[in-house]
Amino acid sequence: MKSAVKFFFVLTILLVTIKTNAQNPVKEIGVITSTIVSTQSIDITTPSAFASVIAYSPNIIRVRVDKQKLKPDFSYAVIAPPQTVKTTITQNDSSIILQTDSLKAEIKKNPFSIIFYNKEGKIISQDEQGLNISWVGEEVSDYKKMQDDERFIGLGEKTGNLDRRGSGYTNWNSDVPGYSASQDPLYSSIPFYIGIHHNLNYGIFLDNTFQTDFNFGASNDRFSSFGARGGELNYYFIYHTKLSDIISSYTSLTGRMKMPPMWSLGYQQCRWSYYPDTEVIRIAQTMREKKIPCDGITLDIHYMDKYQLFTWDKNRFSDPVSLTGNLKSLGFRTTVIVDPGIKVAPGAPAFERGLQQDAYVKYVDGKYYSGQVWPGWCYFTDFTSEKGRAFWRKEVKFFPDNGVSGIWNDMNEIATWGQKMPNNIIFDFEGRKASHLEARNVYGFLMARSSNEGYKEATNKRPFVLSRAGYAGLQRYSAIWTGDNVASDEHMILGVRLLNSLGLSGVSFTGMDVGGYTGGSASPELFTRWMQLGAFFPYYRNHKEYNNRSSEPWTYGEEAIANLRPFVNLRYKLLPYLYAAFYESTQDGLPVIRSLAIENTFDANVYDKTYQNQFCFGNALMVAPVVSTKDFAKIYFPKSSWYDLFNDSVEQGGKEKIIQLSMKELPVYVKESSIIPTQSLVQSTAYSPSDTLIIHVYKGNQSNNFIYYEDDGESFEYEKGNYYKRNISYDPSQKSIVIDKPEGSFTSKFKSIQLVFHGFTGVEKLRIDDQRVAFKRAQYSFLTDNSTAIAGEHSCNVLIAVFKNANNKIVIKY
Ligand code: GLC
Repeated sequence: MKSAVKFFFVLTILLVTIKTNAQNPVKEIGVITSTIVSTQSIDITTPSAFASVIAYSPNIIRVRVDKQKLKPDFSYAVIAPPQTVKTTITQNDSSIILQTDSLKAEIKKNPFSIIFYNKEGKIISQDEQGLNISWVGEEVSDYKKMQDDERFIGLGEKTGNLDRRGSGYTNWNSDVPGYSASQDPLYSSIPFYIGIHHNLNYGIFLDNTFQTDFNFGASNDRFSSFGARGGELNYYFIYHTKLSDIISSYTSLTGRMKMPPMWSLGYQQCRWSYYPDTEVIRIAQTMREKKIPCDGITLDIHYMDKYQLFTWDKNRFSDPVSLTGNLKSLGFRTTVIVDPGIKVAPGAPAFERGLQQDAYVKYVDGKYYSGQVWPGWCYFTDFTSEKGRAFWRKEVKFFPDNGVSGIWNDMNEIATWGQKMPNNIIFDFEGRKASHLEARNVYGFLMARSSNEGYKEATNKRPFVLSRAGYAGLQRYSAIWTGDNVASDEHMILGVRLLNSLGLSGVSFTGMDVGGYTGGSASPELFTRWMQLGAFFPYYRNHKEYNNRSSEPWTYGEEAIANLRPFVNLRYKLLPYLYAAFYESTQDGLPVIRSLAIENTFDANVYDKTYQNQFCFGNALMVAPVVSTKDFAKIYFPKSSWYDLFNDSVEQGGKEKIIQLSMKELPVYVKESSIIPTQSLVQSTAYSPSDTLIIHVYKGNQSNNFIYYEDDGESFEYEKGNYYKRNISYDPSQKSIVIDKPEGSFTSKFKSIQLVFHGFTGVEKLRIDDQRVAFKRAQYSFLTDNSTAIAGEHSCNVLIAVFKNANNKIVIKY
């Protein structure tokens, strides 16, 4: 008996020892053992980690956790330093409370875990008890409790539904030609998402450039999680009551776009590839002959001499300066493709300059890394080093010197044949040194930055850079397009969700290859629908691959042209409205194309798969994308009333409706009380519209205002106050429309204003600044020529008044 007890005692000790010594494959964060409290942050130690929780702004709490002592702060994405925030920090044996005016973090001590509350004391988000933060190898993850009915939106360029619940995603910038409609990852990484539950919404931005992984309840019913394959768990928790304010806060951290050049908002025609120069001119001239407004021609890789960067193929393009000049005189700007790989070509001037300036990335042993792309074996500029960026900025001058206005950065994931860049390549990372694992996701972003800065240095004009890869904050430097999509209805609609998701993630200037890049050619119907829809994309470019039929609008036949042209025209008429939407984006980070979830966050219908693709273009217009194969569509009208853009019939909000489709129209609706400035049709932004600004006002029950904005469309003079900005407000309770005195030193191009009243049927009198003015009842058409507009057919019954665009405050009473 005695020996049996002894035996069991020894066995127990042995088992405990084995358990303690066994390597637990999951390293948990553990219990808080010490804290150091500062004015608005707290430093924390546990047996396995070092952490810091910081009040970053009244609405943002930042959390940093690492297995080692936290390194000096560093980020390519975040440009806003922490604000001085009124913060209270208290602690007792079990927890620490860090509180700002609108957000509270309760940090539990045993073990370390965080609960975020709003000021009403409601739980917004909390670590999942038992899981919290842990490491598997170098991979760190934070597991948050899955809240009842929680939805997840955003995360940048990601396939899948608007509501990402039930899905998991990886951020690892990848070259994915002809990707499938559910493929992940794609080209860019924006580790920022928004969670929604119980009438609350919050944002989480995981600022880590390693591969990051997000799980929104994929293969589990317990948690949502985010994590990274290396580096710190470094996240910003953002809380506001309104979703739009979350986007504003996120873009206050990662920066906002600057005003784009006006020409980049016009329609762009691209092909892999237009050559020789005579063919380029033929395309431009045909656009004008066929009266399809167009602002840009984009040259793909064949303009170069054997795909070598910073060269022209002299056989195809004997005089690039004349070509770009001739295009300019036809109202076209030229954009050219520029990949990161520079051909290993001893003696080639640009290649040699890169060597001299130590611009290229190397293996850990100091030998250059070379990978194969279009030109054959290439070296790659290290955009994470100032030396690399300085080299690139100077080389980029080549483009404006040749009359090129736009720089298209492709293949910058980095894409190489074989798709397997070695991980032992060392990037400078501003002297910190990073392997491919840490640098890959930010490479494209920094290439776009260098192209942007180089163009600006050379010209002092607004750069237009289009990038395929990117990281959080890319909106500061470039527009982005969604890569090599497929000519199918599914891809057109998926593309809309990609753009909406990018918009939710701080990127406003986005587009997709209109017409479908690969996978055969679109039917005339699909092409028509895509061109119609594209009129409502921030970046509106048609592009087609090599070895495929060409995709200019006229190649789809007369009927297609007749149905799509009015929408390209509409895009040009809407330019004053669109330009103001871009201006708004520079101010508050709100996207130009907006998922309905931004305004109707807690309306379950907007996440319904039937309606999830509907979006707003700016604040006033709602677009319902429709596939080319259907004659009917089901549309959801969120709260407020909606006017049909083409005939002013009104739909009440909170309802769904089945509508009959016609190839002549895409379903587009105007929110009640909207103010939409438009202009006369032009064939290019290089041409002046008539001197009348047409302001549409839609009758409604809500008061509303619109910030109208103009500047020269190409320089940075607006940053010195050389702009023209005025507030236009509509107040139904006062029966008034007020156009405030303009701000800024710029002179508007519009000498008079035509006010177009929609839905104001009973109006008898109109007064402007207390003077009675005449108005007329008329037919107005957004799609056809007004002089031939027939009541009911794509035209609206309106009241029209015309008056001088005076520089004082203008008060209109009806
Ligand atoms: C990549 C781009 C595509 C381009 C092609 C040739 O596939 O995504 O747009 O046409 O390369 O440069």
